[in-house]
Order: sequence, then structure tokens, then C-alpha cells
Amino acid sequence: KETPRAVIVIFGATGDLANRKLYPSLYRLYRNNKLSKHFAVVGVARRPLTNEDFRNNVKASIEEFKDDALDHDEFASHFHYNPFDAQHLSEYQKLDNFIKELDQKHDAGGNRLFYMAMAPNFFGPIAANLKSQGLTDNPGWSRLVIEKPFGHNFDTADKLNKQIGQAFDEDQIFRIDHYLGKQMVQNIEIVRFANAMFEPLWNNQYIANVQITSSEVLGVEERGRYYDGSGALRDMVQNHLLQMVSLLAMEPPARLQPDEIRYEKVKVLRSLRDLKADEINDYFVRGQYDHGQIDGETVDSYRESNGVEEDSNTETFVAGKFMIDNFRWAGVPFYVRTGKRMKEKSTKIIVQFKDLPINLYKDKGDTIDPNLLVINVQPDEGITLHLNAKKTDYETTSTPISLSYDKKDEGLESPEAYENLINDCLNGDSTSFVHATEVALSWQFVDKITDVWEKQKADFPNYESGTNGPDAADKLLEKDGFKWWECC
Ligand code: BG6
Repeated sequence: KETPRAVIVIFGATGDLANRKLYPSLYRLYRNNKLSKHFAVVGVARRPLTNEDFRNNVKASIEEFKDDALDHDEFASHFHYNPFDAQHLSEYQKLDNFIKELDQKHDAGGNRLFYMAMAPNFFGPIAANLKSQGLTDNPGWSRLVIEKPFGHNFDTADKLNKQIGQAFDEDQIFRIDHYLGKQMVQNIEIVRFANAMFEPLWNNQYIANVQITSSEVLGVEERGRYYDGSGALRDMVQNHLLQMVSLLAMEPPARLQPDEIRYEKVKVLRSLRDLKADEINDYFVRGQYDHGQIDGETVDSYRESNGVEEDSNTETFVAGKFMIDNFRWAGVPFYVRTGKRMKEKSTKIIVQFKDLPINLYKDKGDTIDPNLLVINVQPDEGITLHLNAKKTDYETTSTPISLSYDKKDEGLESPEAYENLINDCLNGDSTSFVHATEVALSWQFVDKITDVWEKQKADFPNYESGTNGPDAADKLLEKDGFKWWECC
């Protein structure tokens, strides 16, 4: 297959996302021959940098690869800087000419990828100007990549969708949820649909519950101001966690086509139990970290962080239960849990199978642990299946054992999430991007929770830094007869 050609225009080229994620990912694609030699990057930002300054920034961002035989100067020679004030229409025409010039110089096939790596309030206006000033009338394809947050609630997301929808068709819009670029999140589909042994059991007859935990050790660090207006529900649950729920719960698609897969994910979101305001606190629990100990050091509470209100009502932790009221999943809770300043940095999916009808080993004093399928998303990437078997004794007894696949044992290096996603976008594969309907439905669900929580002052802080969140998160499962599996 021919590697894609394009001029990649990065708005926000001097920002954190571009330097930390985009340039290293482009470099890895280039190194792995996934990026054709016929590409150019136009860095667009306010700052008056020279081409040389810009290329030096790019080279600094790929320093970690210095042992590579590849010439960093050669890679950086594809990068060009264009100082830009997004408010001035005349600057768009200059940019258009510059892109045309680079297209010719690098033989980029007339294709354009516009990547918005900047504050979301610019997405709509810039997209509109790109269209009105003719930057999308190029001979090849043009695509728009945007980063979350896609709005702050349903109304603002809807407005944003409509704004960018006037300039780009839905199939030209690539909304990034970087969790969908993670290797093991992409693996959910393969584990489910390429193995005969799971799909027959993948329903409410055999699965007791599903648990997804995405915990972080870091606090809000320098992002206090943004985070205090957002909180864990908007920052993690509305997007990353609901996306994982959809992939785990969707029906097998008719084909592995982006539209077919996204259609099945949308059906899951549509089947989420519609909670009434007085049910919200039975299904969702919020928390905010207090000070505590991390790696033997005392750390501050959330309310003591920069940019955070002293009496902030913003949650840094959420645990919740999604019920998917369809034939496959009726009665099976999908529990999710995410938070800052928890015990460890880890994302894990655990599928707990139902207990056997009887325990034949009871007389021998054995309890039988439920079978678990564990998908380790990060930091380790792998899959573990928890079974029961006879181990070393003389009698026929049952002991828990596990079968594990750990990627690092194979010495395999997974592509980074952004690397996967940029590659997909250049190839026009929108499977791992979020459709406007998914954004809308997930906000509609989450808005019902925020409506309740914003009206009720929470008893914060309610969990110590370095722990797994408030007790209420454990009680959420206990009342259903389950527990969070911390084991695996
Ligand atoms: C981002 C959130 O989307 O995901 C951050 O805005 C969070 O608050 C991050 O820290 C977590 O991503 P990862 O890949 O480190 O699990």
C-alpha cells in the first residue's frame, strides 16, 4: 500500500501537545516507513519564530531517539513555520499559498490535514475560516483533526459540531480520543471477535460484571484552572471510559468498517439506562483528594493546588455503574472508576464471569474464584485469564491459576496512541475516532449527572491521596454483591 502524502498543518505548533506527542509520533511513523517522504508539516502559531527556531524545537522533541541512524535534520527539513493570527482572514490566504508552495516542493499530492492542537474555543472559528478562505478547495483530500474537550456539555458540544460541520463533512472530521489509539484498547475488538471462546459467553448469561479502572498517581499539577472547571466526569468518563464501555459492550459489527463499528458503539450509548435525578447518587460516586502520602512524600490536597478554588466542589474521582438495557446486557453492571492521586497509574479492564451453578469442591473446603478475563491497557500491556486448576497436592482440589500474555516478554514495542491515530487519519481510517453522535449521546448521559452534582455541595475532600478513592466507591459494588478486583 502506498504511504500517504500530505501537507500537515498543525495549529498550536508551539504548544505542549505538539511538542510532547505530535512531533515524536510523526518521527516514529517516519522512522517506521509509515509516512511517505512526500510530506510537509506547517507549524502554525502566534509566536514569531523562524523556520530554524521551529526546526530546533522539533528536533528537541525527538531527542530521545538520538541513537537512531535516521538523520534528524533530514526529518526536520520537512517542517516549516508560519506565524499566524487566527482572527485575520488575510492570513488564511497567505497560509493557503504557503501550503500550495510546500505541496509542490514536497510533492504532497494536494492532500491537507488540518490538526487543531490548541484551545477548543478556536476549533469552530478556524474551521469556518479555512472553508470560507478556500483552504479546503484543494485538489486532494482535506481532513480536520480535533482534540477533546468536544464541548463542556451537550449544548456546547452540539454547537461545536454544527460549527465545524459547516466547513467539513462528518467523514472529514477526526475527533481524537487518545484512549482509542492505545494498543490494548484496540485489542478489545480483536480479543472479542477473533477468538471463538469469548463471544458465546459475552452476555448476561455468563458475565457477572465488567470493571474498568483508570487510575492516576499525579494530581492536577499545572492544569488546576482547566481542571477545576471540568472534573473527572467530563475529563475522563464522558470520553475515555464510555468509549471503552462501548467497545466492550457493542454487538459484533457486520464488517470491520469504520461506519459499521461506530454504528454498533452508538447503539450501546443509546441503550444506557436513563437515570432519573434521584437515582444518580445510587449509580455514581464522586470524590476529591485530600493530602496524603505518595512514594513516602506528603502531597497537597486538591484544594491547595494552583488555580483551584479553596472550597472547590469539583470531583477528582468518579466511580459509577452503567447499566446497558438491551437483550445482551440486561442486569450486568459495567463499573468504571477513575481518579487522580490514586495508588497507582494503571488502566485495566476486568470481565468477571458468573459463578458455576454449584461448587463441587466445597466439601474439600475450596472456594472457587470466579473466572476473570483481564485486559491490561497500561502501563503493562497484556491479557490474563484467571482459571482454577489442580496444582501440586495429592487430592483433587481446585486452586486459582492464571494464564498470562505480557507484551513486554516478547520484547515488542507498541506504537504510541498518537502514532496509531495520526497514521489512521493519514490513511483515512476513522474507526478509532469519535463520531458526532457518540459525542452527543455521551454528553447527554453525563449532563444528567453534572446537573445533580452541581446543585449539591459535596462533602469534600473525601479520599486521601495515594488511596483507591472514597469508601463509597467500594460500597457501590458491595451493595450488588461484588468487589473491585485489585488483584491482577
Ligand atoms: C486526558 C485527561 O484526556 O487523559 C488527563 O485530560 C489525564 O487529565 C489523561 O491525565 C490520562 O491519559 P493517559 O494516557 O495518561 O492514561
